[in-house]
Amino acid sequence: MAGRPWTRRRILGRLPAACAAGLLDIPRSAAARRSGVDAGPLRAAAVAGRLVFGAAGGSALFGDEAYRDLFLAQAALLTPENALKFDGLQPERGRFFFADADRLVDWARTQGLSVHGHTLIWNDRLPPWLSGLSRREVARSFDAYLDRVVPHFAGRIASWDVVNEPFYLGGDHPGTYRPGPWLDALGPGYVVRAFRRAAELDPSAKLVLNEAWTERADAIGLAVRRSLLRLVDELQHAGVRLDAVGLQSHLFPGIAYDDGGFTDFLHGLAERGVTIRLSEFDVDDESFPDADRDGLVARRAGAYLRAALSVEAVDTVVSWGLADRYSWWRDPSVMAAHGMTRLPRPLPFDEMLRRKPMADAMVAAVRCRGRNG
Ligand code: G3I
Repeated sequence: MAGRPWTRRRILGRLPAACAAGLLDIPRSAAARRSGVDAGPLRAAAVAGRLVFGAAGGSALFGDEAYRDLFLAQAALLTPENALKFDGLQPERGRFFFADADRLVDWARTQGLSVHGHTLIWNDRLPPWLSGLSRREVARSFDAYLDRVVPHFAGRIASWDVVNEPFYLGGDHPGTYRPGPWLDALGPGYVVRAFRRAAELDPSAKLVLNEAWTERADAIGLAVRRSLLRLVDELQHAGVRLDAVGLQSHLFPGIAYDDGGFTDFLHGLAERGVTIRLSEFDVDDESFPDADRDGLVARRAGAYLRAALSVEAVDTVVSWGLADRYSWWRDPSVMAAHGMTRLPRPLPFDEMLRRKPMADAMVAAVRCRGRNG
């Protein structure tokens, strides 16, 4: 068995069993890579797996033609990585700057990409002027922001992260509400308020609650999972529309994880009638040795996706960028904050836009789902 080559026929014949056993974590040989099993765009594989595949992007899509071509070949959906954040859209009180966001959104639509809006309300990335206001003025700014931004993009943005990262991720009290001006001014009810208002302003956009860290199985991850399930219950009890939950899926293999427990959590969400998006997928490779970084990233990515995609409610996978060249992990300030000395390699394509084993592992995981459906 060990010596037999992984021919296309042999791999395809084994696929459902291989999904369960994890045999397709990584393409193991040049022969497997040449076989065609791991070839082809992610977007096409995703369709076969009853999924939409997308990626985050920004100005690189205009400045780098090769990257743009790669993006359009691979992705069916664009999440603007930064262009729709509060600090960029309203850097001065009462003055909105839509030009960059409009350009990106309109370009995506002309290319046939669906656009996911990230993000309306987040207790982060807020402009300095907001911190000088009274609570009443902050509350007014909250409503005014939604009133201006949601209609501006209505009909062009298919779905919105209405609230991003409602919970506090670290410290002594993980899973409690994340501090910030919105929480200060409005209390935890700001989440219901945002969803209610967004639903009125754009009845056709899908409304998403997006959260980080639920993929990890330590005290932080488990607390955030519990808090998120409770919040979904509260939103539904309040009668506001919640279409989907986004789970960021920035994977940290150096921190405890448990894909089985995560899958149970996904079932808990699915039972509540929402769909699920893996909304910012990438893999922190800092804990992996030099010798096989890309292989281990692929193995982790494949195992995670196979587990998550076993839950039918997961309908969208978005990677946070497509190529290492443009990953947020390569921002010098991010690398410094994490004490990184090697350039991170968290995405399915590398800095030269070459396909990596991670891309093959993603396609294999998606095809497992297609075959098991
Ligand atoms: O565009 C300016 C540039 O003009 C300036 O010279 C430069 C100097 O620092 O900064 C540039 O802006 C940076 C921006 O990314 C665009 O590259 C900001 O400093 C930097 O803070 C910003 O980081 C983004 C971060 O969110 C904060 O908004 C990352 O690109 C983006 O990937 C990251 O995305 C977040 C999601 O929104 C939420 N989930 C976690 C995820 C990763 O942190």
